[in-house]
Amino acid sequence: MKYYLGIYGCQMNISDAERAAAVLEQLNYKRTLNINEADLILVTMCSIRQSAVDRIHGLVDKFDVIKKSKPKLKTILTGCVLKRDKKIFVEGFDYVLDIKDIKRIPELLGVKKTLRLRSGQGKNQTDYLDITPKYENKFSANVPIMTGCNNFCSYCVVPYVREREISRPAKDIILEIKKLVKGGYKEIWLLGQNVNSYKDTSTGSEQANTFPKLLKMVNNIPGNFWIRFTSSHPKDFSEELIEAMAICEKVKPYLNLPIQSGDDKVIKAMNRHYTVESYKNKIKKLRKKIPDIALSTDIIVGFPGETKTQFNNTVKLFRDIKYDLGYISKYSPRAGTTAAKLKDNISTEEKKRREKVLTDVLKQTALEKNKKLIDTETTVLINEPKNDFWLGKDQHYRTIKVYPKSPSSKIKIGQFIKSKIIAVTPFTLSAEEM
Ligand code: SAH
Ligand code: SF4
Ligand code: F3S
Repeated sequence: MKYYLGIYGCQMNISDAERAAAVLEQLNYKRTLNINEADLILVTMCSIRQSAVDRIHGLVDKFDVIKKSKPKLKTILTGCVLKRDKKIFVEGFDYVLDIKDIKRIPELLGVKKTLRLRSGQGKNQTDYLDITPKYENKFSANVPIMTGCNNFCSYCVVPYVREREISRPAKDIILEIKKLVKGGYKEIWLLGQNVNSYKDTSTGSEQANTFPKLLKMVNNIPGNFWIRFTSSHPKDFSEELIEAMAICEKVKPYLNLPIQSGDDKVIKAMNRHYTVESYKNKIKKLRKKIPDIALSTDIIVGFPGETKTQFNNTVKLFRDIKYDLGYISKYSPRAGTTAAKLKDNISTEEKKRREKVLTDVLKQTALEKNKKLIDTETTVLINEPKNDFWLGKDQHYRTIKVYPKSPSSKIKIGQFIKSKIIAVTPFTLSAEEM
């Protein structure tokens, strides 16, 4: 029996799909990358924008065709599904399952099987996070430290699809990472919708484990590996965290700190609880402690009522901060969120224009910064072989093409390779193996 994974959305969904895969493997299902071959299709969906939801509708249309040659095909929908979409998708899928209930998959499929899946000592609500995943990647692992979100940014569905924040016990996280490092993993991503509000109260002691403390605990795990984390909410991005990032040598100098807009009024309407000034101050402090830190942000263009002047404030901010990367989205109204009550009054054309303006500024500033890197050294974690080079990311999360120094070079996937930067574009750098 074969299963196909349809993975949509962010790293959290990749990680959740890895846990669902672990359950299926225990039921003796084998993974296939060919959807037409599958006896079971499991989809972890994303609802962040309407376009993400539409993709699932497109997939459902395919099921009928596949069912013609595979009449016994079973389909399961899980991940981030809005309540109202659950009602719609029960038509297209055999089962719509809450992600926290993936241990129920055997029961759904009518298989009697006691699952042996636990990696830590997880209990209650975070139980499903304690399932040892079938990791997609052999050297870079996603490790959720919490799930859910309490912030209710006015445009966002995450608090509705993932409910409230729950932190995973630090001891379980550490246990999982220790096993990964022993198994040769070189990069650990600590995941949560807002990692900065991580709080492990399971210890029962007065002092709960906070995110800076957790970073230090992970940093203390012996081994040669990199630590990264996402996402970080600026309102909870503390000096204590900056301090921890600076002293933990395994935490690499890259940070995604989504500001969403460079205009205080828009930020307020987004219910984000910081100002451009407070954000910039945090970046200033961060750069003082970690001068070479690479920065990225998330931006929504065309939030309801966003004027050209307000948008230009975001452009100014981009010029000012000089981000290395940016994830720019066109506002998509999501039913049930508070922003959905506001008129989506910026046309698609105008949203596209704003997206392009920002992308152009980003390209310019990133290129300027990258040019200064020519002839400097960097370490690249190799990810993928290409024709005459290897693709990877360096400590700063820059995409690097590494050219082997000789035909006898022994570069392999999952290795750290010292390289010298020889040429740059805004988002990709070329380097030679040293
Ligand atoms: N927890 C993270 C964001 C997770 S969602 C944070 O607080 O920053 C990932 C990104 O999707 C967001 O940063 C935002 O830029 C984008 N996004 C969320 N809702 C959106 C919407 N309704 N329309 C367009 N983009 C959206
Ligand atoms: Fe969404 Fe805001 Fe929570 Fe991020 S912090 S997941 S944007 S509600
Ligand atoms: Fe999408 Fe859920 Fe991530 S809605 S962005 S997959 S948390």
